[in-house]
Amino acid sequence: MRLSLLSLLIFHFCFSYSAINLCSAAVSEAVTCSGIVDQRHRSHKISLTDYGGVGDGKTLNTKAFREAIYRIQHLRRRGGTLLYVPPGVYVTESFNLTSHMTLYLAAGAVIKATQELWNWPLISPLPSYGRGRELPGGRYMSFIHADGVSDVVITGENGTIDGQGDVWWNMWRQRTLQFTRPGLVEFVNSRNIVISNVTFKDSPFWNIHPVYCSNVVVQFVTILAPPNSPNTDGIDPDSSSNVCIEDSYISTGDDLVAVKSGWDEYGIAYARPSFDITIRRVTGSSPFAGIAVGSETSGGVQNVLAEHINLFNMGVGIHIKTNIGRGGIIKNITVSHVYVQNARQGIKIAGDVGGHPDEKFNPDALPVVKGITIKNVWGVKIHQAGLIKGLKNSPFTEIFLSDINLHGETGPRSPSWKCSDVVGVAHQVSPWPCSQLSS
Ligand SMILES: *[C@@H]1O[C@H](CO)[C@@H](O)[C@H](O)[C@H]1NC(C)=O
Ligand SMILES: *[C@@H]1O[C@H](CO)[C@@H](O)[C@H](O)[C@H]1NC(C)=O
Ligand SMILES: *[C@@H]1O[C@H](CO)[C@@H](O)[C@H](O)[C@H]1NC(C)=O
Ligand SMILES: *[C@@H]1O[C@H](CO)[C@@H](O)[C@H](O)[C@H]1NC(C)=O
Repeated sequence: MRLSLLSLLIFHFCFSYSAINLCSAAVSEAVTCSGIVDQRHRSHKISLTDYGGVGDGKTLNTKAFREAIYRIQHLRRRGGTLLYVPPGVYVTESFNLTSHMTLYLAAGAVIKATQELWNWPLISPLPSYGRGRELPGGRYMSFIHADGVSDVVITGENGTIDGQGDVWWNMWRQRTLQFTRPGLVEFVNSRNIVISNVTFKDSPFWNIHPVYCSNVVVQFVTILAPPNSPNTDGIDPDSSSNVCIEDSYISTGDDLVAVKSGWDEYGIAYARPSFDITIRRVTGSSPFAGIAVGSETSGGVQNVLAEHINLFNMGVGIHIKTNIGRGGIIKNITVSHVYVQNARQGIKIAGDVGGHPDEKFNPDALPVVKGITIKNVWGVKIHQAGLIKGLKNSPFTEIFLSDINLHGETGPRSPSWKCSDVVGVAHQVSPWPCSQLSS
């Protein structure tokens, strides 16, 4: 099974690149980072139905989920406990996970967020953001939430976690929200987390958000939300380290994967970077970015590797974004083997993106962007090839572009680049980027 999916992905990759010889590295071995978390086998299992779970798509299952998880927490079985969610549609309010558990969704199991929102819990803002991301004050707790846990797995036979986010998107559009919308799954201060073989659908806000976490694997997931759904980022590793994202399909209304680390003065004070992040064999579509760093990067972001990425109908293929007031160092970011088809912009690295949490941000807290390598990118139907816009008092340095071909809407006619306040090197880049980059 595993091998056949991989060979399928590799086939797809090679097929996309059939014109150029870029697929040999992928064929020789299926590299994976998923070994950073031990794969758990749990011999002790309980079923949601033992706790009164009813999968009729109507009954509220909050009590069943909370009691089953309370039981797991207090049983403290050696090797942990698996909570089996059988086929059926289980409507529930939000709930918290506990350590040493597996949430297992059978084929045809759907965990569906209630659209009755009056009881949705509010929690404190993240210290590195100082407030909710959308609105001042607290924020609604994510649908599935965990704080301070370790050894947690969310997996199964491609069951679905459905956020039924349209009520939230409409509140956002009508400006009737009081607080920041809930994510679908959030892990705070946690480690040894695996999320695999699950479909995420219609998140109210960001889909998968590990924040202040280490050793996180996200593998074989499907993340779906309509292209016009607001802020439905796919996976946002935030002030987290040792994160492995592989073999996934993501199609949402915002960035597919965005590496973050806190917001302006709050993120600078909290000083928690994201580092050692691998993103590999991800495919998808979005009106925003495919692979993003930012824009909230105040704790710094380093050692990111994204490779074998296939993007279709995109806003921006690769987007590194920050702003004045952010501070933070973004360095050692490598993006390679990217296929982009139909995008507004192929590559964008910019120092003027995203708002501020409040008026207290320090305009002298300039971000540093250096050591960015982008190579082996093939684009077709790219409206504008690239934009690199550094800051006058903090130019972007060590920007290295190589083996990049970005074709326009009609054959090889050159879509252009724009660059300012940048120092670096370009090698075999077409169309030629700009005079600021030496050859
Ligand atoms: C997860 O999905 C992959 C790819 O489809 C498959 O190889 C693997 O066996 C699945 N894992 C489980 C636990 O079903
Ligand atoms: C769930 O976790 C949040 C955040 O840690 C906490 O505020 C809340 O009380 C927990 N809810 C339950 C039902 O345990
Ligand atoms: C999982 O389910 C989603 C949604 O139905 C589907 O698009 C995807 O192809 C499925 N993945 C696998 C490996 O079967
Ligand atoms: C840069 O990041 C890569 C991962 O992309 C890592 O392997 C390498 O060790 C990092 N280099 C330094 C100097 O930290």
